[in-house]
Amino acid sequence: MRILLYRADGNTAPWVKDFADLMPEAEVVVWREGAHLPTCDYAVLWTPPQAMLAELARVKAIFLTGAGADAIMKYSHAIPPHIPIVRLNDAGMGIQMAEYVTHAVLRYFRRLDEYETQARSGAWLQLEAREKADFSVGVMGVGALGSHVIEALRPFGFPLRAWSRSPKSLDGVDSFHGEAGLDGFLGSSRVVVCMLPLTEETTHILNRPNMMKMPQGSYIINVGRGAHISEPDLLPLIKSGHIAGATLDVFRNEPLPAQHPFWMEPRITITPHISALTLRRESVEQMAAKMRQHARGEEVADVINRTKGY
Ligand code: GLV
Repeated sequence: MRILLYRADGNTAPWVKDFADLMPEAEVVVWREGAHLPTCDYAVLWTPPQAMLAELARVKAIFLTGAGADAIMKYSHAIPPHIPIVRLNDAGMGIQMAEYVTHAVLRYFRRLDEYETQARSGAWLQLEAREKADFSVGVMGVGALGSHVIEALRPFGFPLRAWSRSPKSLDGVDSFHGEAGLDGFLGSSRVVVCMLPLTEETTHILNRPNMMKMPQGSYIINVGRGAHISEPDLLPLIKSGHIAGATLDVFRNEPLPAQHPFWMEPRITITPHISALTLRRESVEQMAAKMRQHARGEEVADVINRTKGY
């Protein structure tokens, strides 16, 4: 079995080593533009360079080193539909998302963002405690990662909401779905956590009209994709206080440009797309198991639905 590997950062050696350890039967070929490459069975990558597309059309399956499919869906037209594109399922990301989101929710609930600001000016001032009942947390997108986050939030006793494309029922969670359920979800979520896949329908789902439906003084945590939020719409809503704070891990343009106004807004907390890092060892383990299944002619889970786009 031969695996074609591409890493945009060029740091291929640790991946080659992990495949050698966990899949000794496979030979890993590192993709290089212009190089004469042997025929490969599987490709492992995140976003392919344009020059790699012809090669991708020849493999038996493509394995993504991430959970989201939007990066490769841009090139979907160049990849024949019979070639499955397989994404990672959790592979250590669920717990990271749970840590990140729980931390952000608790920080807002316990007003630690405000205490951080006070501490910088040497102010000792106890703010009023918040009521859990006033601090409903709504998660948009309840797939493998979203459900992990909901489970992590459960013990704290926040009223929980979920919004998904199709109906989902989660114990003890007020579930909303589809276009028709969006207003009710947004209107009753003091904190909105965006964990949606990025598709045409979800692009700019958090635009001004929709953010205005959230309660006054609410919070946004975005760990989905930058394009879920209309960035120019967010800033005025933060300035007016309608949105009291936002924790953003993803941005329309990454790295977030140095001149971007978000950097200057203290009520926006910025992290560099780290809410769920790809854990190499766990990911290689999962891909190796799926490649072996595919090679045996068995069905492989987590194949992207090209129509849905995730
Ligand atoms: C990262 O953003 C991923 O989709 O895995």
